[in-house]
Amino acid sequence: MSEVIHVGSGKVRELYALDEERLLLVASDRISTFDVVLPTEIPDKGRVLTGLSAFWFARTRDIVPNHLHALRPDGRSTECRRLEMLPIECVVRGYLAGSGWKDYRATGAVCGHALPEGLVESARLPAPIFTPATKAQEGHDENITRDQAAELVGRKLFDEAERVSLALYRYAAEYAAERGILIADTKFELGLDANGELTLGDEVLTPDSSRFWPADGYATGGAQPSYDKQFVRDFCDAAGWDKEPPGPELPSDVVDGTRARYVEAFERLSGIPFADYVADPDVVLE
Ligand SMILES: Nc1ncnc2c1ncn2[C@@H]1O[C@H](COP(=O)(O)OP(=O)(O)OP(=O)(O)O)[C@@H](O)[C@H]1O
Ligand SMILES: [Mg+2]
Repeated sequence: MSEVIHVGSGKVRELYALDEERLLLVASDRISTFDVVLPTEIPDKGRVLTGLSAFWFARTRDIVPNHLHALRPDGRSTECRRLEMLPIECVVRGYLAGSGWKDYRATGAVCGHALPEGLVESARLPAPIFTPATKAQEGHDENITRDQAAELVGRKLFDEAERVSLALYRYAAEYAAERGILIADTKFELGLDANGELTLGDEVLTPDSSRFWPADGYATGGAQPSYDKQFVRDFCDAAGWDKEPPGPELPSDVVDGTRARYVEAFERLSGIPFADYVADPDVVLE
């Protein structure tokens, strides 16, 4: 058996090199909030992220090729093609939230997109916008203009990344809305494969890479509850945590409620019982 080399640890995932061409991405059950990993894990969260990503990879190949080779039977490990990642985060926003809302309030624009006046927090945008960000090694990613992003990756690749990201978002947002989940915004990571072809990598359209909102109860003019992390956020707020590490331990009712929300997001979007996925991860590829 060839040696497997651990090449990196993210907040949530571990990265291994299988050989020259292939990586293994292993999603843990760690949860982060306000950019801090909490000491308590959410059982099966890594399986939900892995399964949902694979579900979308299998359905978006006609929009853009992706890195997925195979899922491992544990449901949390993805064998994928190693890509040379673009140095930008490809963010698409359909609604005004988070740093998009902050930038709009300060300047009337987001990443160089001038938006209509008078939009309120959580408003649906007239059309989805591509709002690239830098990949910060430490701390928060920073929003940049489309021109700055084009300088980083080259105009031709930038145009392709923008087109593909918008097409992926449009497809997924429409699909999810029919199933009761609004995808307010999401982040894609694109790279080049060995032939120089633009390829979708990382995780896609998961609660961790996206802002999911429950469609029922959606109301503009304020922040929306998070589909997946609201129990955790409410608990952290009530605990009076200052958002500096270490974060608080989560009590079992918060863990159970959060696990249920992740599983519910998986089942609503995929239409597949989560137990079926655990029994055989390949069900999401059919
Ligand atoms: N196919 C691929 N080829 C090469 N690198 C990849 C591929 N898919 C994902 N990656 C990279 O693997 C890493 C995944 O790690 P992970 O998301 O856990 O941590 P991170 O992005 O460094 O930190 P964060 O916790 O902020 O997400 C990212 O750096 C991502 O760009
Ligand atoms: Mg990441």
